[in-house]
Amino acid sequence: MDLQNNLRTETGWEIIEKSFDPDQYVTTGSNFMIGNGYLGYRGTFAEWEADQFVACVVTDTWDQAPESRWSELCTVPNGLYTRLFMDDESLSAFERQPEAYHRSLDLRYGVNRRAQIWRNGSGKGIQIEVEKFSSYDNLHLIPMRYHLTALDAVEITILTGIDGCIWSLNGDHFKDYDLLEDSGLIAIETRTIEHEIQIDVVEGLKILGVQPTQAEIIREDRRILRKLTFDLQAGETVTFEKVMLVCHSNQVDNPRETALAEATDALETGYQNLKAAHQSHWDQIWAISDIQIAGNLEVQTITRFNLYQATIATPAHTKLPIGARGLSCQVYQGAAFWDQETFNMPMYLYTRPEVARNIIEYRYDTLPGARKKAQRLGYYGAFYAWTSGKTGEELFPNYFFTDVLTGRKIHNHFNSWQIHISPDVVYALWLYYEVTGDWDFMLNYGAEIAFEVAQFLVSHIYFKKDKQRYEFIRLLGPDEYHENVDNNAYTNYLAKYALEKAVQIFGRMQSEAPNLLSELLERLGYDETVLDDWVDIVELIFLPEPDPKTRLIEQFDGFFQLEDITPADLRQRLIDPEEYWGWPAGIAIEAQVLKQADVLQLFALLDIFSPEVMRANYEYYEPRTEHGSSLSPSIHGLIATKAGLPAEAYRYFMEASTIDLYNASKKVMSGGEFLGGIHTAANGGVWLMLVRGFAGFEMDGETVVFKPAVPQEWELLTFKLMIRGNELTIAMDHAQVSVQSAAENPGGVTVRVAERSLAVKPGAVATFSAGS
Ligand code: IFM
Repeated sequence: MDLQNNLRTETGWEIIEKSFDPDQYVTTGSNFMIGNGYLGYRGTFAEWEADQFVACVVTDTWDQAPESRWSELCTVPNGLYTRLFMDDESLSAFERQPEAYHRSLDLRYGVNRRAQIWRNGSGKGIQIEVEKFSSYDNLHLIPMRYHLTALDAVEITILTGIDGCIWSLNGDHFKDYDLLEDSGLIAIETRTIEHEIQIDVVEGLKILGVQPTQAEIIREDRRILRKLTFDLQAGETVTFEKVMLVCHSNQVDNPRETALAEATDALETGYQNLKAAHQSHWDQIWAISDIQIAGNLEVQTITRFNLYQATIATPAHTKLPIGARGLSCQVYQGAAFWDQETFNMPMYLYTRPEVARNIIEYRYDTLPGARKKAQRLGYYGAFYAWTSGKTGEELFPNYFFTDVLTGRKIHNHFNSWQIHISPDVVYALWLYYEVTGDWDFMLNYGAEIAFEVAQFLVSHIYFKKDKQRYEFIRLLGPDEYHENVDNNAYTNYLAKYALEKAVQIFGRMQSEAPNLLSELLERLGYDETVLDDWVDIVELIFLPEPDPKTRLIEQFDGFFQLEDITPADLRQRLIDPEEYWGWPAGIAIEAQVLKQADVLQLFALLDIFSPEVMRANYEYYEPRTEHGSSLSPSIHGLIATKAGLPAEAYRYFMEASTIDLYNASKKVMSGGEFLGGIHTAANGGVWLMLVRGFAGFEMDGETVVFKPAVPQEWELLTFKLMIRGNELTIAMDHAQVSVQSAAENPGGVTVRVAERSLAVKPGAVATFSAGS
């Protein structure tokens, strides 16, 4: 079926580009990308170069290029580079509309394919079919199969090898490009300038079918290429099986040796076997992660696209951050924001809890960075980085946006005033603990996180004597247009939540693990009296309550006094469409216009407000929200469902889930910054809308609860959850909910739909009426 944005699907497991659109190459480069959480390779063409944003982004390579503004993940030399010449004329999809063109992404197995017929100026033709995937069986490996068939008698020259002239967003990271040859393999070995990370990209090639009449190696400044010439008769074929291996010294002891050995193995194994091994990993991932939507192939495809992108963005193999743009490009430095805990972690928690555990352990490992940040800013405890790389030290610069009218840099305070990042981490930690019941994990990792966040909050909060309450001043809440605000509702509620959890953990440790508690407190340098501070704040913190009449929660002190204007009217005041709307002089700062969900974001995390309160706030804040952040639409979709607004929920589901695929709402440039790439939080938000929203899934203690609100546009919603080692398959339509407990589950699970609760034993299926 046809989708929007020049796309179609056949089975709901693929996206197919109907014709080549040169204006869309930045977006399609991201949308058609392949990856495995270790590396992300953009969905570009083999003959493309830096100007077309070809990039292979590799995790754990943070480095700051000289003269550049900040540290980011590196993009590495392109070992798949392959350029074709027919009778000296070069193939380029940019030059003319390709004949019989087809580019697709197989979402089930992460396979990118492209086919086309190419004719040169004298009408002679060849057909090419290219296929590649980044292996889940060996994360360093990208195999590519390049198959060409001569349609006429032609001489073909192919330049294939490693192109080190690569796209890098913020400067050149490498020095000393060593071009190497070893037993038929070629390689570029380089080192980053700041941290001396050694990176080896090795390419291996096997030629099947007609063999070249000439072959030589060409060395340029940053390229090592094979030049191969073929004399082909009409109907003759040549197939390249190419492998690209990427290893670096932050991951393996000897990257060159490892990459060379793995390239040799991969060539011997052969493309089809490599693919089969890779596919079995995806089979396992989809077996628990897939969400099926019967009755709407478009939504089915969009959903899988988001699940696919969320998956390949995640370094599930290790404890490293999920970047806000995944590994689709270097935007946001390949680093974690609060997006990781609030948008991406929940999907893993309920499907692959070991990945959720990695995420929390990553926050444990980065406590030193969080402590350092707190101290630098005059606090103590753990103030997590707004933008967090490997060490957890703050990566976000003081100056991010540029005032496009004056050319001056804008000093934003995302990194110093957006303190909610710390309680957000505790939110995720507690969710993990609730779902897994893993008290040992809490003792070994969680308690330290929770206590250090509590101490940070203590060091930040003020006691207002005249009002006899604690307040937070000088904040930046989720709505980033309003900096320097007091008592942001989201932040105050989340801070209280985090402190409550610290108190709970402390209490249980006091009674069950007093020695561990003493050891921990001693190690952290405080004594049991810290508990008094935490309890005091929990009791006396100011929480902006819903107004008894209007039910509205004020986003921050004085928000309702700001100018009341719609985003559309406000927009008219822009002098330049790329102007930044926020601090210090943007058009939104004196207006009740939000960048993104803020009070609604609170509802998404804490289930303590009635549907009436959620609805009143939705109706107030939604028309005032500009959705300048990709985090915003999915939260609107989720809260609209909880507030009983199904049409709104569906509208926002469609918007959030197509942010990248339909490329309708996100500008590539904002405030002078390139912000393209895959919006990883939106990918996670799709899971939230489907499972938390339309399926109404929540936990009530140990009971699994569903409040179904399956959209009328769909027939059946089916997905799986892992709850304390129990795999559940849930299927719901407009009349019924069925919950099947896998035969091998360790125990029974209690499930409640509406008011009816049933214990579901391993191997059993419980069926509920959707409405009662
Ligand atoms: O974390 C978000 C923030 O809420 C809005 N700007 C982009 C960040 C990264 O996605």
